[in-house]
Amino acid sequence: MISIGIILPAAGSGIRFGGHLPKQYMLLGNKPVILYAVEISLSIDGVQSVVIPVSPTDTTLQALLKHNNIDDDRINIVTGGNTRRDSVANALMSSSIADVDVILVHDAVRPLASKRLFEQIINAAYREGAAIPCVEESDTTKIVSNDFVVDTINRSEIRRVQTPQGFRREVLVNAYNNAVRHSLTGTDDASLVEAAGHPVRCIPGEHANIKITTNSDLIYVESLLSK
Ligand code: C5P
Repeated sequence: MISIGIILPAAGSGIRFGGHLPKQYMLLGNKPVILYAVEISLSIDGVQSVVIPVSPTDTTLQALLKHNNIDDDRINIVTGGNTRRDSVANALMSSSIADVDVILVHDAVRPLASKRLFEQIINAAYREGAAIPCVEESDTTKIVSNDFVVDTINRSEIRRVQTPQGFRREVLVNAYNNAVRHSLTGTDDASLVEAAGHPVRCIPGEHANIKITTNSDLIYVESLLSK
């Protein structure tokens, strides 16, 4: 069986959301957003550790796990960093994932990724080194500068990219070492793997696998859940 570590970056402040509570702790149905990602991660075959970087002052996650009776020694809470890249880099240092075959990185704020998607990403990542969920873009996409269009991108070449993103452990660790050495930041993990020269396989993503960034995302995901 493929041994797996899952990193759930959760050290964001959620400032784009407004309000005081980071978006991963907002209630979705009767459960905080992050617990959906925690529960599905623990349910995947072969998972040895779920590493969750949170901000240094965060005591909420620990309390939420207790309150919801989630008591599993595979959960490892670590300190996150100022950027998502730093949070994942800290998580990668956890000894609990030092010997796994595949590491998945999944946004704590994507509660609706299916188990099937996790499994497809794990298998493709094990086979090919790096795999990510991609969905086609239905809107026309343009490059804009100072509120004027600079160019129109050929839509058929565009994919929107989701998590979980999966990597053979050594591929991700090399990519992060390379990123830190060259001061590269990216908005996802695959971009750091690409920068290190490793091919990244696209697997069909899921339209319901929304990243909760704004209040309207939360309302939309709530409506999907209630169906
Ligand atoms: O900011 P963004 O929406 O890209 O955040 C995606 C995920 O990365 C969220 O789950 C957030 O908590 C996490 N993050 C982090 N450390 C940071 C910033 C964001 O773990 N410094």
